[in-house]
Amino acid sequence: MEFTGKIALITGGTRGIGRETGRKLGQKGAELILNYWKNDEAAEKTKTEFEKNRIKVSLIKADIGKPEQIKQMFKKIEKVDIFISNAVYGVVGPAVKIGKFGWSLSMDVNARAYLLCAQESVKRMKDNSGKIVAVSSLGSYKYIPGYTAVGASKAAIEAITRYLAVELAEKGINVNTVSAGPVETDSLKYFKNINDLKKEWINKTPFKRIAKPEEIADVIVFLCSERAKWIQGQTIIVDGGMSIC
Ligand SMILES: NC(=O)c1ccc[n+]([C@@H]2O[C@H](COP(=O)([O-])OP(=O)(O)OC[C@H]3O[C@@H](n4cnc5c(N)ncnc54)[C@H](OP(=O)(O)O)[C@@H]3O)[C@@H](O)[C@H]2O)c1
Repeated sequence: MEFTGKIALITGGTRGIGRETGRKLGQKGAELILNYWKNDEAAEKTKTEFEKNRIKVSLIKADIGKPEQIKQMFKKIEKVDIFISNAVYGVVGPAVKIGKFGWSLSMDVNARAYLLCAQESVKRMKDNSGKIVAVSSLGSYKYIPGYTAVGASKAAIEAITRYLAVELAEKGINVNTVSAGPVETDSLKYFKNINDLKKEWINKTPFKRIAKPEEIADVIVFLCSERAKWIQGQTIIVDGGMSIC
């Protein structure tokens, strides 16, 4: 129970990778604050399921693409030991067509929210024990069809991690990014031709399959542990080897 007494805030914590990260932190004793945006049903289902397993959960509904809603969310939060920046949203489209709206939406929910939530979390963290982990993807540096705006926001996330990591080291706070390859979650439904893309991804991956959310969550949770104390400002790729092929 290495996270007993710790409070973990996870954005987009009610579905997919965020939910599995919450489950693993909760199973090891953390109390969870799970943020989400619109899907009340999924949020309540996750809360009920976790509580049955004696995990303490609070839900906070807030659109983290809006700075005012981030402020309101943090009014309800007194203490944060672990902050996981995981929520994702964006507009899918090629680089030659992406407009102002798609660009801003993707940057606001993914990159700006990470920075603003990290700033607020740090104010509520104890020195020498805080952990921040952001979730990125291979699209930060590789071409994924239609992923323009989200890919750019992921590159920004990885840069923000490096800046925070240097500045927060004096407070003893660890900051890192986990960059995942394709994972079986609802996110994939936003891609056009997802079945063809999946075939291509599976073919490129040495293990010949797509990741399960818990396989990404395992690495996020490791980075929240004291065993990862000496990892700082890094982007850890968790993709079953896809990116080396
Ligand atoms: N799935 C993949 O293949 C893959 C690959 C690489 C990296 N990742 C990264 O892994 C992370 C989790 O992805 P996932 O696939 O697990 O996502 P997911 O299953 O689609 O869940 C997304 C979560 O984010 C929340 N969310 C979306 N917009 C929000 C907003 N404006 N404010 C607050 N919450 C918001 C959703 O809330 P609602 O439920 O209310 O909508 C939901 O809880 C993301 O950072 C993603 O980029 C995923």
